[in-house]
Amino acid sequence: MQEIIPSVEDYNVLCAEEAAGPNALVVFGASGDLTHRKLLVSLFALFSEGLLSERFYFLGCGRKEFSDEHFRNEARKSISKGPKAVPSETLDAFISKLYYLSGDYDDEGFYQRIKTRLAELSREHDVHESVVFYMAVPPTLYPAIVERLSSAGLARPSGPDGSQKIKLVIEKPFGRDLASAVDLNRRISRCFGESQIYRIDHYLGKETVQNILMLRFANAIFEPVWNRNYIDNVQITIAETVGVEHRAGYYDTCGALRDMFQNHMLQMLTLVAMEPPISFEADRIRDEKVRLLRSVRPLDPNRMREFWIRGQYGPGSFGGKQVAGYLDEPGVSRNSRTETFVATKLFIDNWRWQGVPFYCRTGKRLAAKDTEIAIMFKKVPYSLFSSAGLNNLPANVLVLQIQPEEGVSLSFQAKRPGSKLCMSTLNMRFSYRDVFFAEAPEAYRRLLLDCMVGNQTLFTRQDDVEVSWQLLTPVLQAWEQEASAPHVYPAGGETFPEADRLLEADGRKWRKLLQ
Ligand code: BG6
Repeated sequence: MQEIIPSVEDYNVLCAEEAAGPNALVVFGASGDLTHRKLLVSLFALFSEGLLSERFYFLGCGRKEFSDEHFRNEARKSISKGPKAVPSETLDAFISKLYYLSGDYDDEGFYQRIKTRLAELSREHDVHESVVFYMAVPPTLYPAIVERLSSAGLARPSGPDGSQKIKLVIEKPFGRDLASAVDLNRRISRCFGESQIYRIDHYLGKETVQNILMLRFANAIFEPVWNRNYIDNVQITIAETVGVEHRAGYYDTCGALRDMFQNHMLQMLTLVAMEPPISFEADRIRDEKVRLLRSVRPLDPNRMREFWIRGQYGPGSFGGKQVAGYLDEPGVSRNSRTETFVATKLFIDNWRWQGVPFYCRTGKRLAAKDTEIAIMFKKVPYSLFSSAGLNNLPANVLVLQIQPEEGVSLSFQAKRPGSKLCMSTLNMRFSYRDVFFAEAPEAYRRLLLDCMVGNQTLFTRQDDVEVSWQLLTPVLQAWEQEASAPHVYPAGGETFPEADRLLEADGRKWRKLLQ
């Protein structure tokens, strides 16, 4: 009997996107970078693909005094900046749905004006079903805005039948440590219920991050070996070439642990290490993620240096060009001890992972942009080929390539043509770009759509945020009390001795970036 293997097209039939219903989107921080670089561009992509309802409008709110006209012109420029030509009719139709209102976030009167404007626009665009409030503002403003929205009666459904959905989208970082995250959650949850809150971690919107669950749980061959019996160690890397850029004001008070580790890194760790959820429902997946985080072994303060390394980039070079060190970046305090690099060895205390180290590192101004999760399998227990000098056969490595390469690769040993005992390590590789798309869709496209549709799977829950801070707050405290500053590594470097020692102590090495 001939077997029919579905092609990529066959699957496409099954995966039509669910379009958003009627929605009003209110963005606080509408004149800012996030709105222009990510949100407007992603909304326009959804609009062009027919995934935004005709009954949609966008109300930008900000401190800057703009007219609707001015905001629309700025939005048009931001959307047209991309590499692809934008069809002008579609763009005009989208732009006509954008509005702007300026005011002071502390002024109660501003929220009354928002309320009045929402009522007018909702009538005009016939949108009564759903309002999304999006916080694209610095985190210090979250409580004030949320509380004022609530006092203005905007946090609860309006309309006679109470069926209107009100949602709140909050950007990371969610708190600075456990106490501030608990406090923020407490203040927000007085105004909005957990089912209304969408805490964004944009890594969860990346196709390749979502693929972690598909790869693990839609294939039969991986789960049986996804444990301490077959896996020697796991290495998760988020390497960036960019430095602090123009964000010193935020970054210097934050650092890599808060900026990248508490959210993006821990989210990837949970997806790769969690137990299979009982279903694909948002809360069942989120339950397992929290269970996994609760199993991460807490820091032993006496062994801090064995487990956690922090670094800060010094001057260095990229492609022959000299670049400044962190302390010389504009806006950074000259004696700043903020870390731009973090590496750690984590253990997960459960049956599946006992004794398997998870080495995680993230840093700015490294030699290459490379985000990947490498599953390093154990070596063969005995080499049949030792008589030919092939004693130390390399282990298989499965790499989930998150970005900029997007795909999956598996290395294995194979015979090279020629001499009877000649072997090479080969790489079997699948690339998203070659199979599915020229360029990966922007993560915010997925997240905005899910939020409008009302699917919370890719958003972090309150308990998830709090458990992650519970793990990391002792690390932050230990660094605050440490007399020594972070290790300095050269900008443009691949790694540095102190980070290497974390693995060398276990007889292992980091994988090379972009291998
Ligand atoms: C953000 C951080 O969350 O993620 C930035 O605040 C970082 O510091 C960025 O550069 C990296 O995102 P991406 O999608 O480019 O990997």
